[in-house]
Amino acid sequence: MSSKNTNNSYGWVAKTFHWGMFLIIVGQFWLGGNFKEEAYRGMGLGGYHFSIGVLILFLMLLRFAWRAKNPVPELPDGTGNLQALAAHGLHILFYVLLIVLPIAGIAVVQARGGTVSFFGMFLIPGFIQEAESTADLAAAMHGIFAKATFFAVILHIIMALYHHYGKKDNVLKRMLPW
Ligand code: HEM
Repeated sequence: MSSKNTNNSYGWVAKTFHWGMFLIIVGQFWLGGNFKEEAYRGMGLGGYHFSIGVLILFLMLLRFAWRAKNPVPELPDGTGNLQALAAHGLHILFYVLLIVLPIAGIAVVQARGGTVSFFGMFLIPGFIQEAESTADLAAAMHGIFAKATFFAVILHIIMALYHHYGKKDNVLKRMLPW
C-alpha cells in the first residue's frame, strides 16, 4: 500500500492517522469523564487527559498538513452536490473541533492556575491569565466542543455504515486498514 492517497484510495499514512486517532480520542473521552484532579498539576488521570489532548492537537496539525499535500479520494459517481457538501462539511468540522477542543482544555487548566505538561517532559507555555471567570467560560466551551465532537463521531459512523450497507459503495472499504 502506498503512503500517499490517490484519487480513489487512502494511503497508509492517512489510514494510520484515522484509526490511530480514533482509538486515542475514545480513550480521551473516557479520561475526560473520569479524572478527578482539583489542583490541575502532576500526572494522575487528569495529567494523562491533558497530555493526550496536547498530542491530539499536535497530530491534528500534522494530519491537516498531510491532507493538504495529498489528493482527497473522490466521492462515488452520482453523489449529489448537497451530499458532497455535507460530507466535506463534517470532515472540516472534525478538524476545527479537534483543534479548538484541546485549546479550550489548556485554557481551563491555565486559567485555574495549573500547568499543562506533555507527559512530564515539558510544559506548554502559559497563554492565558489566571482568572476563575475565564476558566469557567473555557470549561463550558470545552464541554460543548466535546459534546459536538461526540455527536459528529456518531453521525460519521452512521454515514460510513450507510455507504457500506445502504449504498454499497467503496467509501468505508477504502479507509479500512486491510
Ligand atoms: C481532543 C481532545 C480532548 C477531548 C476529546 C476531551 C474531552 C473531555 C471530556 C469528554 C470532558 C468531560 C466534560 C464534561 O464532563 O462536561 C473533559 C473535561 C476536561 N478536559 Fe478535556 N478533552 C480534550 C482535550 C483536553 C486538553 C488538551 C486539556 C488540557 C490540557 C483538557 C482539560 C480538561 C479539563 C480541565 C476538563 C474538566 C473541565 C471542567 O472543569 O468542567 N482537555 N474533556
